[in-house]
Amino acid sequence: MSLLDAAREVREMAYVPYSRFKVGAAIRGASGAVYRGCNVENVAYPEGTCAEAGAIAAMVAAGETELIEVAVIADSPSPVPPCGGCRQKLAEFGNGHTPVLLATIDGATLATTVGELLPGRFDAGHMAKAE
Ligand code: THU
Repeated sequence: MSLLDAAREVREMAYVPYSRFKVGAAIRGASGAVYRGCNVENVAYPEGTCAEAGAIAAMVAAGETELIEVAVIADSPSPVPPCGGCRQKLAEFGNGHTPVLLATIDGATLATTVGELLPGRFDAGHMAKAE
C-alpha cells in the first residue's frame, strides 16, 4: 500500500464532530515502517490534535525519531497544507529535503518538502549560545 493510501485509509477514522473536516496523515520512518494519524477534535477546541501530530506520536511511541516521507490527505479544494504547528513538528523529525505529498480525496496532489513548507525554521542551531 502506498503512503498516500495509508493516509487515505486512516482519514476515515478522524474524530471531527466540530469541523467535519477529516484529515489523514501517514509518515514513513527511517526503518521503512509506516505510521498513521488522523485529527482528533475536542469540545474545548484548542485541545484538538492534527493528523500529522497523531502520526508523529505513533512513530515516536514505536521507537523511531527520523521520518523520511510524509503524505497528508483531506477533502479540500486543493491539496491540504499542513498548519504552521505541524510544519514545525515535521521539521523536528525530518530535514529540509524530506518529501511531503499533499493530496485531495479527488486525486489532486502537490509534491513538496519540509524545507519548502517551513523556510527559515527554528532549529537546534539557533540555541548554540545557550550551551
Ligand atoms: N487539520 C489537520 O489535522 N491537519 C492539517 O494539516 C490541517 C488541519 C485539522 C485540525 C482540525 O481538526 C481540522 O483539520 C480543521 O482545522
